[in-house]
Amino acid sequence: MIPVHVAIIMDGNGRWAKKRSLPRAYGHKQGVKTVKKIVKAANSLGIKVLTLYAFSTENWKRPENEIKALMTLLKYFLSKEIDELAKENVKIKVLGDLSKFSEDIKIDIEKACKRTCDNTGLKLNIALNYGARQEILYAFEAMLDQGIKKPTEEVLSSFLYTAGLPDPDLLIRTSGEFRISNFLLWQIAYSEIYIVDKLWPDFTAQDLEIAIKNFQKRQRRFGSIVLENSKK
Ligand code: FPP
Repeated sequence: MIPVHVAIIMDGNGRWAKKRSLPRAYGHKQGVKTVKKIVKAANSLGIKVLTLYAFSTENWKRPENEIKALMTLLKYFLSKEIDELAKENVKIKVLGDLSKFSEDIKIDIEKACKRTCDNTGLKLNIALNYGARQEILYAFEAMLDQGIKKPTEEVLSSFLYTAGLPDPDLLIRTSGEFRISNFLLWQIAYSEIYIVDKLWPDFTAQDLEIAIKNFQKRQRRFGSIVLENSKK
């Protein structure tokens, strides 16, 4: 079975650039090229939801010039790549607290989401100024505002940025780090995790297929056991 929802922690842009004695921003630029390739590949593989961790709540701690470069790339991606994504029937959504972004980026995000909102192909979620702990806290605040004091798991899920989406089946992290980095903490409770050594700019469509093949070999038990009869 092809995973319905794949989430990716796109790590290693900085190291990719450092290895080539290039500025970190160059690594992010290559990272955007990989984003384009992986979105296309995911769409043609029949993945329904792809969630990419593009900017965390902690990434504001990076040097100002790197943040600036990331914002420029984000703007480029949302304005210049949107035609191709729209043509490919991709539906864009942004997960995160957008209040910290500049007005022009907020407008680009709104335009990109609006333009693709009726598309029926791959749902592309871009996590921006996203932090899972903050997401859960916001959900609690919103529930309390609505007088919900004892939420069920379903109710809490419906207050997260990912409301209405299935939880990720597969979480991929590039660049060999064994960390979750405050990404989708609630949603990945039963996700299969796949860590690959390749740095994000080097990650290819073929690597995505290898990750999926690895996922397909896993036996997902969701806390239960596999009964002898159901093994056949
Ligand atoms: C991690 O690499 C990557 C990021 C913090 C940003 C990811 C952003 C992109 C791929 C480009 C923007 C994306 C879109 C959708 C426009 P790192 O810098 O932490 O690398 P390092 O661990 O090697 O230093």
